[in-house]
Amino acid sequence: MKRIVILISGRGSNMEALLNADMGASVAAVISNNPAAAGLATARQRGVAAAIIDHRTFGDRPAFDAALAAEIDRHEPDLVVLAGFMRILTETFVRRYRGRMLNIHPSLLPAFPGLDTHRRALASGARIHGCTVHFVTAALDHGPIVIQAAVPVLPGDTEARLAARVLVEEHRIYPQAVRWYCEGRLTLGADDIVRFDAARTADGVLISPPLGA
Ligand code: GRF
Repeated sequence: MKRIVILISGRGSNMEALLNADMGASVAAVISNNPAAAGLATARQRGVAAAIIDHRTFGDRPAFDAALAAEIDRHEPDLVVLAGFMRILTETFVRRYRGRMLNIHPSLLPAFPGLDTHRRALASGARIHGCTVHFVTAALDHGPIVIQAAVPVLPGDTEARLAARVLVEEHRIYPQAVRWYCEGRLTLGADDIVRFDAARTADGVLISPPLGA
């Protein structure tokens, strides 16, 4: 069975969705950069090893990333899953896990990379919003797209209402993407293009076309 390590910084609802899903993978560990992350307790309650690598105790980004990589590698994961992990990673770190690290971002990338996506989506007048799972590359929130889900922006929406609508989809598509990866149906080509095994469609989900497949 494949092994995954999940990185979190906070609430951990995506982590929980992954723990609840049948992904054909075992969660070897959960690691947080934030000692106060609520998700740590959830992981421990579920019997998953949960570690803290507090970024504030390191002098610089490379030192933190090296310690994080050492903790990850101890668990020999097939896949590293960023689930609400709120640290910018160094290029060295990103390169180390190239093609085996996924992130979820609460917007339809390439729209709204970065923070406050729901507020910015509302302010822009967008009628469609959503979330994206992508492979992690050096460009923040710009990696090759694996799967997206769209939701409508409704009249009278607040940031909280829109975020909640998007979160439901996050919890659906992230386990899906991890399952594909663990089944060997999803790979990142040397050309940075995502390749799917044929017939990788799921009802109601927008999937990037199998370019070059
Ligand atoms: C999610 O919306 C995720 O997409 C974003 O941060 C939020 C984390 O939520 N990067 P949770 O910790 O998974 O509940």
